[in-house]
This record gives sequence, C-alpha cells and structure tokens, in this order.
Amino acid sequence: MENTDIKIILAPLQGFTDITFRNVFADHFAGVDEAMAPFIPTMGKKKLKLARLKDVAPENNKKLSTIPQILGNNAEDFIFLAGCLHDMGHKKINWNLGCPHSKVANKNRGSGLLMHPKRIDAFLNTVLSKISNRLSVKIRLGRISKNEIHELLPIFDKYPLDEIILHPRTGIQMYEGAPDHSAFGEALLLSRHTFVYNGDIKDLVSFYELRKKFPDIRDFMIGRGLLSNPFLAEAIKGIPSKGNKTARLKNFHDDLFLGYQKIYSGPAHLIGRMKGFWSYFGPSFRKKEKSLKNIMKSESINRYKDISADFFSPESEFLY
Ligand SMILES: Cc1cc2nc3c(=O)[nH]c(=O)nc-3n(C[C@H](O)[C@H](O)[C@H](O)COP(=O)(O)O)c2cc1C
Repeated sequence: MENTDIKIILAPLQGFTDITFRNVFADHFAGVDEAMAPFIPTMGKKKLKLARLKDVAPENNKKLSTIPQILGNNAEDFIFLAGCLHDMGHKKINWNLGCPHSKVANKNRGSGLLMHPKRIDAFLNTVLSKISNRLSVKIRLGRISKNEIHELLPIFDKYPLDEIILHPRTGIQMYEGAPDHSAFGEALLLSRHTFVYNGDIKDLVSFYELRKKFPDIRDFMIGRGLLSNPFLAEAIKGIPSKGNKTARLKNFHDDLFLGYQKIYSGPAHLIGRMKGFWSYFGPSFRKKEKSLKNIMKSESINRYKDISADFFSPESEFLY
C-alpha cells in the first residue's frame, strides 16, 4: 500500500533531532514530509540567545521543512519569540503543552499547564491576537488525569488553531504504558480541530492499527520509531528501498558522525551525542547487545569507530 495521502512529521526530540540530525536524515531517507524542531524556551527581549534560533533558521533547514516549537507560559515572551521566528520566515509555530519532565511541568510549563485550562485560555486569547504566525499545539491527555482534556478541548475550539498534535498519554505517565487510543478517538469527536496522532508508531503493524482505528487521520508524528528505524517513513509510504540497507545505514551514521564532529570540539561531547543516537538505533540490530554496551562505554574516538563499524559488517542484521 502506498499511503500517498499520509503526512509524516518527524517529532521534536530535544538532544536528538537537531538541525544536524534532520539534514543528515533527509539526505539519506525519504518519506518524512516535515519536522518539528525541539522546543525553544521563551526568552525575554533581554535574554534572547540567537544561538537558540540557529537550529530553525529556514536557510539551513531547506532539506526538511521545519516548524519551530516554543515552550513557555509567559504570553509577552511568547509573542516576542514568535515575532522573531516570523521575521525569520516562520509562518507556522507550535506551542509545547506536552513536556512531561517535572522540572518543566512544576513551573506550569509543558504538560504542567494542562491542569490550568483558564491560564491556557487567557494565554491563547492574548497571544493569538498579537502574533502573525499560525499556531498549533502539541498536547497530552492531561498532566495527571486523562480527563483533563475534556476541559481543554472546548477552550481550543474557541481559537483558530492550525492543528492539535495529541500524544495520548498523561504527563505523569512520561513514556510508560500504552498510548490510550480510545481517549484519542474521544478527543476527535469532541473537537472541531484537525488532529495529528503521535505516540509509539514503531513499525508498520502499529501504523496500520492506527490507520484502521482512525481512517480520517492523515497526519502522523513519529519520533523514537524513526530513530530506531530510519526506513519507517519509506515503508509506510511504500517507497522502495534503494540499495543495500546496511550500507545505507552506515552512510547515514557516518554522515551524522561527521556532522557532529564539525560542531563538537572534544571527543566526550561528540561521543556523548552519538551514544544518545545509539540508545534508539542500536537495539534494532540483531544480536548486537554486547557491541552496544561497548559503544556506551567507549571514551575515545578510535574505540568508538572500531565498535560502531561492527554494526555495519556484511553479516549484520537490521531488524526492520
Ligand atoms: C528524548 C526526548 C526528547 C523530547 N523532546 C521533545 C521536545 O523538545 N518537544 C516536544 O514537544 N516533545 C518532545 N518529546 C516528545 C516527542 O516529541 C513525542 O511526543 C514522544 O516521543 C512520543 O512519540 P514517539 O513515540 O513517536 O517517540 C521528546 C521525547 C523524548 C523521548
């Protein structure tokens, strides 16, 4: 099946799907239509760090069109940052209402704000009349209870949101337990907005299960599934794989390494970044548990290169 009517969006994963990853990914794999960048925290005028905006500079994101995401609860700072992004050329931006980490949520940001529907209402009321970008929201079912969404959806209905990206877990669930598909289905019925499904699409089976349950959903956001299996979007779209899979993975890995080598001066940072990538990518190789452990222990670039090469030998078996 070709699924040409489906849009696949690379999810924002702070520390993983930065501009280097997105560009290298787009050089090697097809099927992903768009990316959402990891969140940029709101910064007042005085605290604006241009380096934080570099990740979403449109001129450097031509290979994969990228939507910036803002995390924060201060309307004034949000409007300021949205304005900077608009000046850069971003007509669409996203508001992060899903981050589950207590450091963020305890300050009523990310999923922490979901328990405060009146604050969300006031925020949207202020912000939407003052920004020129179109706004989407990325949410969970609630912070503590999945019923929180019932109070939120009528609020979202009052505003011209671009879309709602829903990851059907609560904030306190973090990434535990199964995404609640029936709660996602209920939300669809209770809202006038267009929804994007996000959560645990890791293979064709999980994708088709969702397609069957939600035939009207056209947009799917995938994060960890694409890190584990970079071929996933091609598989979903029915794009034939060009060339030997292991060779393609090796070329992708090598370019990612080179890309990070240009950014990180010391080996610790570089290897640290690659270890993060391997934490999702490594388990997708059959019988490579020991090599993966060794990668995670590696400290020198030579050692890292030796061990990683083992994953791309002709005998190596990628599970997907
Ligand atoms: C390491 C990590 C970093 C993340 N960073 C962000 C982020 O910056 N912004 C955001 O909205 N979601 C973030 N998420 C959540 C993902 O975008 C996504 O909603 C979640 O991983 C579920 O989708 P998946 O199962 O396809 O990965 C992050 C998740 C992980 C695991």
